[in-house]
Amino acid sequence: MKRFVIAIDGPAGAGKSTVAKLTAKKLGFLYVDTGAMYRALTYKAIQKNIPFDDDTNLIEMAQNTAIELQDNQTEYKVLLDGRNVTHEIRTEEVSKGTQFIASLLPIREILWKMQRALREKHNIVMEGRDIGTKVFPDAQLKIFVDATAEERAKRRYLQLKEMGINGDIDTIEREIKERDERDRHRSISPLIKDSDAFYIDTTGITIRQVVAKIEDLYKKTAYKNKND
Ligand code: DC
Repeated sequence: MKRFVIAIDGPAGAGKSTVAKLTAKKLGFLYVDTGAMYRALTYKAIQKNIPFDDDTNLIEMAQNTAIELQDNQTEYKVLLDGRNVTHEIRTEEVSKGTQFIASLLPIREILWKMQRALREKHNIVMEGRDIGTKVFPDAQLKIFVDATAEERAKRRYLQLKEMGINGDIDTIEREIKERDERDRHRSISPLIKDSDAFYIDTTGITIRQVVAKIEDLYKKTAYKNKND
C-alpha cells in the first residue's frame, strides 16, 4: 500500500512550515521541508563561488551533493554533504539566490527524485511550492495554504523583531510581492493551487485552527481511502 502523503504548498510566509511541522508531529509523520533543499544547494553554490548563471556547473554540483533532512520531532536539521547547515541556509543572500537554483529543471528533477524516495519508508507531510502538482500528484491529501501579502509581511516583520532585527514593513511587503510574482509566473513548476487541493487562507486565524482543519481533512480522507 502506498504511504500517506500530505502535500502542503503555498507562498512564502503563509505559515506552511509551522503548520506542516505541527501536523507531522500530531500524526507521527515525517516532516519534509523541500525549500530547505533548494536553499542548501544555493548555499553550496555561494560557498563554491559558482555564478548563478553558470547552469552547467550548478547542475554538476547538484548531481554531486548529498542532502539529508533529519527530523526527530523536536529538532530539524539540514545536512549538506554531512555538514549541519540548518542556520546558514536562512540568510537573505540564500533566500535571494534560490530563484536561480529553483528555475533549473535538471536540478528540480534531482530533488524530486530525493523527495519521492522518502515515501518508500515513511508517511510524510511535505511542504513546498510544487508538492501537489509535481512531486506527488497522487498525494492522498493536498493543501494550499495562503495569506494576504500584508499579513505575511507583518508575520515576517515580527519574526525578524524577535531575532533582534528591525525590518521595514513596507520593504518586506514589496519583497514578498516580488517573490510571489516570480514563484507564480516562472515557466518551470510555478506556484499554483492544484485543482484537487484544499485552499486554506490563514489570514486572521490561528495556527492551531489551521492544524485542526488539516487533521480533520486527513481523518476524512484516510477513512474514505479505507472504504473505497
Ligand atoms: O519555502 P522557502 O522559502 O524556504 O523556499 C526557498 C526557495 O525555494 C523559494 O525561492 C521557492 C523555492 N522552492 C521551490 O521552488 N519549490 C519547492 N518545492 C520549495 C521551494
